[in-house]
Amino acid sequence: MTFQLRSPLYDQETIELPQEMSKLSNPFNGTVCSKRGDEYPIKNNIADLLNEEMSYTLAQSSNHWNITASLYEDLWRVRSLSLLTGEPFPIEKEKELLAGWVQPKPEKTYLDVGCSTALYARFLKKIEPDSRQIAVDFSLAMLEEARLKGEADQTDLYLIRADAREMPFFGKTFDGVVMGGTLNELSDELKVLFECRRILKDGGTFFMMHLIQSKSWYGKVLQNSAEWSGIKFWTVEQSNEMFKRAGFMAEEQIVKGIVCFTKLKPV
Ligand SMILES: C[S@@+](CC[C@H](N)C(=O)[O-])C[C@H]1O[C@@H](n2cnc3c(N)ncnc32)[C@H](O)[C@@H]1O
Repeated sequence: MTFQLRSPLYDQETIELPQEMSKLSNPFNGTVCSKRGDEYPIKNNIADLLNEEMSYTLAQSSNHWNITASLYEDLWRVRSLSLLTGEPFPIEKEKELLAGWVQPKPEKTYLDVGCSTALYARFLKKIEPDSRQIAVDFSLAMLEEARLKGEADQTDLYLIRADAREMPFFGKTFDGVVMGGTLNELSDELKVLFECRRILKDGGTFFMMHLIQSKSWYGKVLQNSAEWSGIKFWTVEQSNEMFKRAGFMAEEQIVKGIVCFTKLKPV
């Protein structure tokens, strides 16, 4: 199955991504373009739709360093939820929740937004190999790591470098959208949530894992000091208000420590 993007320059125009680029064990290089001639490179299976320099917060910049990308998943991500929930929370528990709420189906299309190493997309592909998984991030270092991990665990994904604030997808493309921990790091979270609503099909599911404001004094101190690097925290009520503004309602929600899992549905 190929995958159609919306041209970042001409929003009526299609750009077709070849299926071969999603086979991460076969190096794929080339270019793709729309009928209007705007052209984008695919290097080592990663389609790069960003051709301009952007400004980043400190937290975002750190995701562009190779060292962060190579250590992120194995050293931090798989352990972090036990630390943040304050109880044993192995990654398998999070994956169980993801699988139960998203329920990927054959021939359906899913998007991992701000994917880093594409932990969610790789897992969804593993449990439903006939689904189509797309993963987007603006960090090339993270996408390169996602490619290596996808190759190692033999999960085929479309890896796309793009800005989540202006996603190169047509409206109602996805049966499910997933976002793990990215909301706190975004520069314009409401704009990204509106984008997620635009590209999600009616009846689709939006799986959200994000961090909320701590109630403990030491948690507040830590979060206040993280805020200067560009990381934001909201209460559960503020988060739900934001989801509502973007056109979602929380169908299910689980809060553990400062971690909030929400199954969002388009209203
Ligand atoms: C906390 S990490 C998320 C990790 C991943 N979702 C997971 O579950 O492990 C946040 C990621 O979002 C990406 N990101 C932040 N803002 C973005 C934007 N506007 N567009 C695309 N990616 C963005 C960063 O590069 C980083 O890789």
